[in-house]
Amino acid sequence: MLTAETVSLRRAAFRALKSLPGPRALVLFDFGYGTGRVTNEFALDFPRCFGDFGRDLHVVAYDVSAVGLDKAARKFIKEYDFDELDPLSFDMTAEAGYVAGSVRRIFDSATVTVTFVHGSEGDDSGFVGGLVRSVNGGGTVSMTTSWYSALAHIPGQSRRAAFFEMLAAVTDPGGELMVAPSVLGDLVDLQKQWRERRLEDDVAGLPIEVGGDVIYETELAQSNFWHVFGPDLWQLLQENANLGQTAWLEAIRLPDEEFRSRAEEQANFRRTRAFNRRIGRRPWREDDFREVHTAVAIRSGSPDAAVS
Ligand SMILES: C[S@@+](CC[C@H](N)C(=O)[O-])C[C@H]1O[C@@H](n2cnc3c(N)ncnc32)[C@H](O)[C@@H]1O
Repeated sequence: MLTAETVSLRRAAFRALKSLPGPRALVLFDFGYGTGRVTNEFALDFPRCFGDFGRDLHVVAYDVSAVGLDKAARKFIKEYDFDELDPLSFDMTAEAGYVAGSVRRIFDSATVTVTFVHGSEGDDSGFVGGLVRSVNGGGTVSMTTSWYSALAHIPGQSRRAAFFEMLAAVTDPGGELMVAPSVLGDLVDLQKQWRERRLEDDVAGLPIEVGGDVIYETELAQSNFWHVFGPDLWQLLQENANLGQTAWLEAIRLPDEEFRSRAEEQANFRRTRAFNRRIGRRPWREDDFREVHTAVAIRSGSPDAAVS
C-alpha cells in the first residue's frame, strides 16, 4: 500500500464521517477490490483511527475475479479473527454477479463487516450498481473507491464512461468518490507501440479504440486489455460532479522503477506531495498527466472539501 493512498483514503473517510452523520455504518464500496491491497488495511485500522466517531464500517468488496476475494476472505477469518456472518460461497462458473457472503468482527469501538461481491465481466453497469445497492438495503454507499482501478480493464470509451457514472451514482451525493487509475506517465513505451499500431490500422479484431488503450501480456502469457487515462479522467470526473460537490485530481505515484524498499516508496511519496502542492486544485493539462504514474479522481460532497 502506498503512503499517498493511505493519506488520501483516511482524509476522505474523515470527511465522509463528518458530512454523513448516519446511518450507523460508513459503507465503502471498493470496485476492483483484488485481494484488498488498500482496503483491508483501512478496514483493520478503522476501529483505532475512527472509533471515536461511534460508527461501524461495512466494506462492499467487488471484483470479477473470485480468486482474490476468496483469498482475502480466508485471511480475514484466519489471521484477523473475523467470523463468517453470511456463509461464503464462490461460484467460479457464475455467468452473472452475485453476493458471495460476508465476514465480520466486533472490535471494542466499531464493528467491521466485509461483504464479498463476485461480479461477471459481462454484467452491465446498471446491474452492478443494483447489486451493490442491494447489499446496502437499496441505498447509496458513503464512499466508493477503486485503487489501481479496474476501470482500466474495461474496453470501450462508452462502457468505461457508463461504469464511472455508475460509481458516481451509487455514491451518496454528500459522500466520497475516489477513482485511482494509471495515467499517461505509466506504460509509456506500450502506449506508443499501440498508438502506432492503431494509426497504421493494425488493430483489427482487438479492442484498441483510443489513445491510452494497450494490450499487455501477463506472467502467464495471457493478453490483457488496459486503458491508461489522461484528460479523459478529468472529463469523466467533471461530468459526474454536481453543484455543491468539489472535484479534483491528486497524484498518487510518480513514474519510477518498482520500489525495492520503503525508503524508495517514501522518496516517491515526497515527490508526489510536491507535485500535488504545485498543481493544487487546478484542472490538469495533458502534460500534468504525463508526469504521473497513478492519479486519483476525487469527488467530495463534504463542505470541508470545498475549503481545504
Ligand atoms: C490492477 S488490479 C487492482 C486490484 C486492487 N484494487 C489493488 O489496488 O491492488 C485490477 C482489479 O480489477 C479487477 N477487474 C478486472 N476487470 C474488472 C471489471 N470489469 N469489473 C471489476 N473488476 C475488474 C481484476 O480482477 C483486478 O482484481
